[in-house]
Amino acid sequence: MSDQVPLLEASGLTVRFGKVTALDGFDLVAGTGQLLAILGPNGAGKTTFVRAVATLVRPAGGTLRVLGHDVAGDPIAVRREIGLAGQFAAVEPTMTGLENLQMTARLFGHRRRAAARAAATVIDLLDLGAVAGRRCATYSGGQRRRLDLGASLVGAPRLLLLDEPTTGLDPVSRREVWAAVRGLAQAGTNVLLTTHYLEEADELADHVVIIDHGRAVAAGPLAELKANIGRDVIEVEVSQPGQLPAAAQVLSAVTGSEPRVDPLVHRASVTVGSASQPGAAALAAVLTGLAGQHVSVGEIGVRRPTLDEVFLTLTGHRAGRQGQPESAGRRLQGSAR
Ligand SMILES: Nc1ncnc2c1ncn2[C@@H]1O[C@H](COP(=O)(O)OP(=O)(O)O)[C@@H](O)[C@H]1O
Ligand SMILES: [Mg+2]
Repeated sequence: MSDQVPLLEASGLTVRFGKVTALDGFDLVAGTGQLLAILGPNGAGKTTFVRAVATLVRPAGGTLRVLGHDVAGDPIAVRREIGLAGQFAAVEPTMTGLENLQMTARLFGHRRRAAARAAATVIDLLDLGAVAGRRCATYSGGQRRRLDLGASLVGAPRLLLLDEPTTGLDPVSRREVWAAVRGLAQAGTNVLLTTHYLEEADELADHVVIIDHGRAVAAGPLAELKANIGRDVIEVEVSQPGQLPAAAQVLSAVTGSEPRVDPLVHRASVTVGSASQPGAAALAAVLTGLAGQHVSVGEIGVRRPTLDEVFLTLTGHRAGRQGQPESAGRRLQGSAR
């Protein structure tokens, strides 16, 4: 019975800060044994959700259960289940990695020997052995972030909360952190991470919830979401700005979708119409069409959609802008299951 309890269940979760509604009836159900990513632009409510799970904010409405414990009714039970790593690494730079972890373990109430054991386990888990004896001031960004993950693991939480774990990291460090997070998930820790990088959700998540203006706008296994919304984009840059409308017309004719035109950079782009129309096939048709219209092409290519484009598809408005009125466009119902 106990392994049937969902990892997280949010229903109509609402959190307000004064006049700002940060979570506006947020729904989510996620099982254990998977890596869950909350994906959304800045200001969408991701950190607020993490803080609600960590019992650090009090919801104004709705319910939230963490491994069966109600955050409002039994916050202490919730806190026992979780570890939290924030956007900024809380690491003492003058101490070594090992000392940092041992200190954290002592703060968790471990005696000296148990603290040493917990620290060693975490160092192993995060592959920090080579640097554990060095002062943290000398660590790379990725090493520091991994140590911070480690600090949130010494209490052996069943749920690890990672709020934007790679924001601000260089690409190499980002890959290091991804590898560490993947390792933790494989070793059996439930992970909830937030991100505004589509690519990060893509790399790591089994289950993705897309959040916008405090609501879940789409949810499901990543492969399913990608099949529905993650379609290829064809982008053309014309050599002669005057030919941009002709290029847009070709894109529209081939894909049946409305192209986006950006006169400033002489570019037009379009989402490939359906999952059954692969980007490469459509690209060939676009090239033929452009040649037929004597459009001279500066650059052309097929690429994965940006988060911005996924958002546009889902919500009818661009990601990254806040506080604008609800679009009349397509809004997928919060299909969190
Ligand atoms: N402590 C706070 N006081 C007032 N407004 C807040 C506070 N925390 C968050 N907000 C607002 O709530 C909304 C959601 O914020 P947040 O959860 O931090 O979004 P995200 O993490 O997705 O960027 C934003 O409009 C933000 O400005
Ligand atoms: Mg945030």
